[in-house]
Amino acid sequence: VQNAILLLIAGHETTANMTALGTLALLRNPEQLAVVRDTDDPGRVALAVEELLRYLTIVHTGRRRVATEDVEVAGHLVRAGEGVILVTDSANRDPEAFPDADRLDIDRPGVRRHMAFGHGTHQCLGQNLARTELQLAYPALLRRFPNLATAVPDEELRFKDDMLVYGLHALPVTW
Ligand code: HEM
Repeated sequence: VQNAILLLIAGHETTANMTALGTLALLRNPEQLAVVRDTDDPGRVALAVEELLRYLTIVHTGRRRVATEDVEVAGHLVRAGEGVILVTDSANRDPEAFPDADRLDIDRPGVRRHMAFGHGTHQCLGQNLARTELQLAYPALLRRFPNLATAVPDEELRFKDDMLVYGLHALPVTW
């Protein structure tokens, strides 16, 4: 049962929320939306998806580790047996790693170094499936509905800021 719950949340909540939230992010950046919609280059779409994954960092769970031996990270000693929560959301907005990190930029150099799928042995098992779904979904949606727009003012959108996976409760649109 636990495995089924894991795959439902890890495998469905994630990509479903990325689809809605990523679409909103693109609607707020129409020039970048036009590139994702109109490009014939799947590589360009793939990089746009990586940037959306970095920018949105929707998974706020997992990412917990226990040190098996003393280890020094950036001048801080983590002792054997101590627990650590890896704050990948902050890592993905680290200005030293990603200049102007609060801006969506689908042409961002080095975006593939993001931590949206975690890092190390337990990094996301489904990341390549997720990438494939999103690389297909955004261009397909935007080409099918070229006049897509939000149907309510931004202030009325309700975000899932109290859940393990961040997203939108609903994204009302017109087309
Ligand atoms: C945009 C989509 C997704 C994002 C952002 C995402 C993100 C993450 C993150 C941050 C972790 C925790 C990694 C860690 O603790 O270091 C994780 C773990 C996991 N994800 Fe995903 N995920 C996505 C889609 C999927 C999909 C589609 C599946 C399966 C069909 C999946 C299956 C899993 C599993 C099984 C784990 C646990 C891996 C382990 O503990 O060894 N994920 N994911």
